[in-house]
This record gives sequence, structure tokens and C-alpha cells, in this order.
Amino acid sequence: MQTPSLEDTLGRALHDLRISVTDRCNFRCTYCMPKEIFDRDHAFLPQPELLTFEEITRLAGVFVSLGARKLRLTGGEPLMRRDLEDLIAPLSALPGAPDIALTTNGSFPLERIHSLKAAGLKRMTVSLDSLDDAVFKSMNDVGFPVAKVLEWIEESARAGFAPVKVNMVVKRGVNEDSLLPMARYFNRPETILRFIEYMDVGASNGWRMDDVVPAREIVQRLSAELPLEPLDPNYRGEVAQRYRIGGGPAEIGLVTSVTQPFCGDCSRARLSADGKLFTCLFAIGGTDFKALLRGGASDEDLRAAITGVWQKRADRYSELRTAQTTNLPKVEMSFIGG
Ligand code: GTP
Ligand code: 5AD
Ligand code: SF4
Ligand code: SF4
Repeated sequence: MQTPSLEDTLGRALHDLRISVTDRCNFRCTYCMPKEIFDRDHAFLPQPELLTFEEITRLAGVFVSLGARKLRLTGGEPLMRRDLEDLIAPLSALPGAPDIALTTNGSFPLERIHSLKAAGLKRMTVSLDSLDDAVFKSMNDVGFPVAKVLEWIEESARAGFAPVKVNMVVKRGVNEDSLLPMARYFNRPETILRFIEYMDVGASNGWRMDDVVPAREIVQRLSAELPLEPLDPNYRGEVAQRYRIGGGPAEIGLVTSVTQPFCGDCSRARLSADGKLFTCLFAIGGTDFKALLRGGASDEDLRAAITGVWQKRADRYSELRTAQTTNLPKVEMSFIGG
């Protein structure tokens, strides 16, 4: 039963469900899980608190019946959840065959790429902030080398995931010098590089506006060396502004959440690993669906609960961002997913 007309208070549809499957990660990116806070004493979610694959699949099925077309698996690092393939297979078998995507740091054995593909994964996004080993190692803060992530990207493209999206978070004074080398290296049809403005997600990364390199500046710096031609969005609500490099075929994207917010078209819901539904990346609280699932709710009850949350939704954090809002006790990105 399809209900495509589900809309929030600002007339935005529900198209996209981002599912965080774990709050853990083997990296400690300074902009996401700073080591000083996510240390040995940090309380990660205990196993019984995580939704099981059956629970996630059931809930995702209800979202799809309400009009969600895209399911993106995130974390933390989603591949830290063992046997993720056993979740992808039932998700890809849902009626309506939703698009299934994964965002990963690409630090796992390359065999996983093939098992993910076989399970039904459709698209792969890999995070990589620099081609300079020293810079990348200091950003992931666990000394993980660039070469391994590049191998993951290459193998993913060969395995049928091309174009593989590559996410680069740009931080002033940290990896600015990597902008051009990254654009040149990924100027090929098998990849789409996206530059992401450093965001004030969570409450632990010590974000300051001074650390953001505005997308406009990124475009200016790249165009001084490479011809860039703006492209129309692929679909309404697309996160990244697209450009073609030098007549193609490669394209790049800019995710401009800080300097040019895109809340007006935001059609994304987020499910945390412990089953809370959040309607904004910068939310302070979510609605507990684990309690409903474990309390015997029927599919109809779940549909009604999701509908209720979405119809009340008024979030547009990035458009309202001020010095005050950046200091709110927002949930961490590693908890809610990217
Ligand atoms: P596709 O269009 O399916 O390829 O995905 P996407 O463009 O949404 O890509 P992805 O999920 O990789 O998002 C890229 C980055 O944009 C994320 O990692 C976040 O940093 C940021 N982002 C995604 N969605 C939102 C959003 O709703 N709000 C904000 N502020 N940032 C977002
Ligand atoms: N600002 C912008 N992007 C971030 N990511 C994680 N933390 C931040 C932040 N503070 C990105 C990661 C990954 C995606 C899930 O979100 O690099 O590509
Ligand atoms: Fe891990 Fe991704 Fe966060 Fe880095 S950005 S710490 S890889 S979840
Ligand atoms: Fe959507 Fe919130 Fe991001 Fe705006 S800030 S685009 S409402 S997730």
C-alpha cells in the first residue's frame, strides 16, 4: 500500500531513510569522533540496545510502504556490524526494490566488496579526506593509510559500483591543500568526488565557523586550475551541487550545508542504531521505535507512528543556524549516521 502523499509541515516528502547500524568506528576522525571524547571510557551502545537485522528490515519495509525509495546504511562505520550482508539481502528483497547504498571508510578486506554486491548493495560511498598520507592519517587519527582506501575505491568500481562516490570533508588549515590533488586524481568516470563543508554536527568536535572552507571558495580555487561547468540537480532534494570537470566525463559535487543550506528540499529521515527516529541531522532528540517494535506494535501501528512524526516535522536547522544553536547538545554524527 503506497502513500506517496506523506508530507511534513513544510510540504517535504519522505524519500530517504538513513539507517545507522552501529555507533562504533575503527577511525577517530577529528571532525567526527575526537579521540579525547571517544576514548576507552566512552559508553557505546550495548549489543541488546541495537536493533536486530529483523527489526531494521521490518521498520524499513514500513518506511518503503510510506514512500521511502532510498535506504542508506551508515554508522559509525557500518561494516563494524558483523555480517552486514545479512541485513542487505532482506532489504534488497523488500517490495518496490528500494535503492540500497552504503557509506563506509573503506578500511576492510576487499572481499567484503564482493559479498556486499552479492547481497544486493547497489551503491557505495567512501570517505577519504586527502591523498597525502600524513594529512589523512592525522585526520583519521588512527594512522590508517591512504593506499588502502584507494584500493577499496578501485575494487568497488571494478565490482560494479561505479560511479563510486568519494566524500571529502574540508577543514580550513588541515586539508585545504588536498583540494586540487583530490579533484585531479578523481577526475575520471568511475568516481564522483564530493567536497563537504565541515559541519557543526554533534557537540564534541569543537566546530568553529573559521574552520569551514565555504563551497564558493572551493569552486573558485578549483576553477583557477580546472574548467568547471555547473550541472542541474539529478533530483529534487539532491544534497550535492554538481559540476562537470573540463567537459567530462567526471563530475564533482559540493555539500554546502553550512554556507548554502538545503533544508527546503530535505526528504531524509534517520534511524539510529538503537531505533530512534530523527528528522534532522542536527536533532537533539528522536522518537523511540525500539520500544514500539519490542512492545508488539503491528505494521499499522508503526505506519501511524512514522506518519505522526513526519507530519509534525518542521526541522530546518541549517537555515536557522546561529551562534546559539551550534552549542546545543545535539546527537553525535557517529550515532545518527552521516
Ligand atoms: P545520494 O544522493 O544517495 O548519493 O546520497 P547523498 O548525496 O545524500 O550522499 P551522502 O549520504 O554521502 O551525503 C553526503 C554528505 O552530506 C553526508 O555525509 C553528510 O555529511 C551530508 N548530508 C547528507 N544529508 C544531509 C542532510 O540532510 N543535512 C545535512 N546538513 N547534511 C547532510
Ligand atoms: N562535517 C561534515 N561531514 C562530516 N562527516 C562526518 N562528520 C562530519 C562533519 N562534522 C562525513 C564523513 C562521511 C559522512 C558520513 O559524513 O566524512 O563521509
Ligand atoms: Fe568513523 Fe566515518 Fe566518523 Fe570517521 S567520519 S570517525 S570513519 S564514522
Ligand atoms: Fe535536513 Fe536538518 Fe540537514 Fe536541514 S539541517 S537539510 S532539515 S537534515
